[in-house]
Amino acid sequence: MTAPPEDAPGEGPPVAVRTTDLHKTYSGPRGDVPAVQGIDLEVAEGEFFGLLGPNGAGKSTTIGMLTTLVVPTSGAAQVCGLDVVRRSVEVKRRIGMVSQNNTLDNDLNAFENLEFRGRYFGMSGKDARRRADELLEMFTLQDRRKGTPFELSGGQAKRLMICRALVHRPEVLFLDEPTAGLDPQNRVNLWEVLRGLQQEGQTIVLTTHYMEEAEELCDRLAVVDHGRILASGTVEGLKDSAGADTVISVSYDGTPPEDVGKLRERSGIERVEVAGEQVRVFAREPDGVLGELVAIGAAAGVGVTDASQLRPSLETVFLTLTGREYRD
Ligand SMILES: Nc1ncnc2c1ncn2[C@@H]1O[C@H](COP(=O)(O)OP(=O)(O)OP(=O)(O)O)[C@@H](O)[C@H]1O
Ligand SMILES: [Mg+2]
Repeated sequence: MTAPPEDAPGEGPPVAVRTTDLHKTYSGPRGDVPAVQGIDLEVAEGEFFGLLGPNGAGKSTTIGMLTTLVVPTSGAAQVCGLDVVRRSVEVKRRIGMVSQNNTLDNDLNAFENLEFRGRYFGMSGKDARRRADELLEMFTLQDRRKGTPFELSGGQAKRLMICRALVHRPEVLFLDEPTAGLDPQNRVNLWEVLRGLQQEGQTIVLTTHYMEEAEELCDRLAVVDHGRILASGTVEGLKDSAGADTVISVSYDGTPPEDVGKLRERSGIERVEVAGEQVRVFAREPDGVLGELVAIGAAAGVGVTDASQLRPSLETVFLTLTGREYRD
């Protein structure tokens, strides 16, 4: 059973993870790195929550603090109602963590990796072995039971790491970039596995830099960049929010004609940005905008070298919020 959060007993749906103005600054020989700069999160029990952001956004640092591996510089975080700094030992018992790197024990076979973890968490030998078999079965790894981590494919190794994180039946499962480096087939297979876990009631927090993954899996997500949350909510909510227009981009073979500015007056157009030879139009009603940009160019004797139209998506949310294209 999860204890109610320390600061809000009995209020609202049970909270599995909460952070308040969480900060982490790494100090190093080349100065301070403000990796996380004031993150407020709330994840409900049973929820599938994602932290989505580009490289260096602070995702691993945030998940590191939540899993007690990184000590916050300031602010607070509770997991299962327990402060991650003051009650780190108890927090560790209630969570499972799958890190981005392969951390399986290469001297042990698949079964033993799980059995040892069970013993570490205080299970009897019999219970640990039973749980190991149950998990291998659940994750269709039975035929790899005796295989060493070296003999596993990338997808199998990741599944085994998830099994190992689940041995002690954690209340919250944290996954840092679970599908990074997997081929598309293995990625989709792993999505199935994670969905299955959630259907059984597992609370899951994952980080990813794949927009598609966040969109596929997460009930709610926070878009992070430079250590801050830019926006959070459901995927649909994010798309409906202020920043979710269709974005029409056109590159000209010269300075964009001044007349593109006139598009600002058209209804259904939120914003027109000109940067160098590129023009970006953020539109609620995108029909005809692309044609008009081409026509405006032609009238001024400027050709179009590149054009694209992005429908509202996490991509356009990111673009609108940061002014930068999201590259993963
Ligand atoms: N141990 C550390 N010491 C110093 N700086 C660090 C350390 N770990 C991370 N950083 C820096 O903190 C910032 C955030 O890094 P973090 O690993 O949390 O980002 P991330 O979102 O997980 O990125 P990625 O998608 O590349 O995994 C980066 O600028 C990174 O270089
Ligand atoms: Mg990371």
